[in-house]
Amino acid sequence: MTIVITFGTYDLFHIGHLNIIKRAASLGDYLIVGISTDKLNFKKKNKNPIINQNDRKTIIESIKYVDETFFEESLEEKREYLLKYKADILVMGDDWKGKFDCFKDIVKVVYFERTKDISTTDLKKIIKEN
Ligand code: CTP
Repeated sequence: MTIVITFGTYDLFHIGHLNIIKRAASLGDYLIVGISTDKLNFKKKNKNPIINQNDRKTIIESIKYVDETFFEESLEEKREYLLKYKADILVMGDDWKGKFDCFKDIVKVVYFERTKDISTTDLKKIIKEN
């Protein structure tokens, strides 16, 4: 069985999120998604996501391509998560290109092209302007 893992915040869930989840699932038999906690997001960006971590997790685990989810508490623990979940393939969007090559000793690392013209940041801007 090929286990695929991917990580993200998935705030204000949008088509770019769905596309990468769908493509990640197509690479293997079992897809695991690590959801960044609110605390981790605050640490990274100095602000909380709009949708809280429990609701973001509930949304992601309801997607038919997703088999399992967990909370990603710390960016520094990626290697531990990959080992814990016995991942074979790590999928990330190409905004992260090269950044996870250090894990190539334990998983295959695949960067998918991001879906054009959409992001949570853009959505927040559009909502604010309207
Ligand atoms: N993603 C994607 N295409 C997009 C937006 C996101 O493929 N248009 C991917 C990211 O590369 C990542 C995953 O979806 O692998 C989760 O991304 P996340 O950072 O949660 O979403 P963004 O919309 O990029 O949020 P932000 O604008 O806050 O960075």
